[in-house]
Amino acid sequence: MGIETVPLGETLGAEIRGVDLRHRLDEKVAEAVRTAWHEHLVLLFRGAPLSDQKLIDFTLGLGDLEFPPSKILNLAGGPAIGSDIPSEINVISNVKENGKPIGHLGASEATWHTDSAFVEVPPAGSILHALEVPPSGGNTSFLNMYAAYETLPDALRSRIDGKKIKHDQTYTSAGGRRHGYDAVTDIREAPGPWHPAVRTHPETGRKALYLGRRMNGYVEDLSVEENEELLDAIWEHVLQPKFIWEHKWSVGDVLMWDNRCVMHRREAFDDSSRRIMHRTQLAGDRPS
Ligand code: OGA
Ligand code: MN
Repeated sequence: MGIETVPLGETLGAEIRGVDLRHRLDEKVAEAVRTAWHEHLVLLFRGAPLSDQKLIDFTLGLGDLEFPPSKILNLAGGPAIGSDIPSEINVISNVKENGKPIGHLGASEATWHTDSAFVEVPPAGSILHALEVPPSGGNTSFLNMYAAYETLPDALRSRIDGKKIKHDQTYTSAGGRRHGYDAVTDIREAPGPWHPAVRTHPETGRKALYLGRRMNGYVEDLSVEENEELLDAIWEHVLQPKFIWEHKWSVGDVLMWDNRCVMHRREAFDDSSRRIMHRTQLAGDRPS
């Protein structure tokens, strides 16, 4: 039996049926999944919860594994991740054990972002697997950055085409300052890599806006004032409901998104409920 693709959002998102994530994908199925991914940008697989090893095996069936950003940046002071969890797994959770967080991002909103744009070679994809979900809240939304770029008014497009943006490493998408980083007082001096504001997807050849996140984004050569005005105008265009699809999680869901052409946001939820997600990362190329 072949795989079935059921579109979910208007411009992105699709559920894939007929793939058993408990068994290593054969190359034919993997190719069909990659093709659907390039067309729909975010894929949903439903099923029973997987072990970390199964999640890693599924990821390896689709490409090379990347480590979580805390490991790439060699960050100290992060959550005390249990020693039985493989170092390729990124725990996203608000749960605390013995007073210490077991994962990242807590229960507050994670503002619009693309994963790890603050490293030189960000992951192509993120694969997030729900193990425990709150009864309400904590939905994750996705935004099609091809469509955002293609519909950008000419007056804005000509100001951002060919420019580089600096992506600050100091803060997480939930707003927390990373251990060992000083507060940013001048966005032009913030630590982090420069990436092209418009990148070409290496597989599809399509162009997408690559904004990382709004906070402390800095477009090369601009004054701080010009930067704020330009980025505010671009973000106002980007954050339109027609580019967005929102997912409400069920236990067992696996969502796989393409960081090269999608941004995402996680809404807040009640911190007295538990949410535990395990994430793997597909290795990517330097944005160009
Ligand atoms: C992530 C992230 C969103 C969520 O894992 O990169 O932003 O729904 N998480 O937890
Ligand atoms: Mn993220």
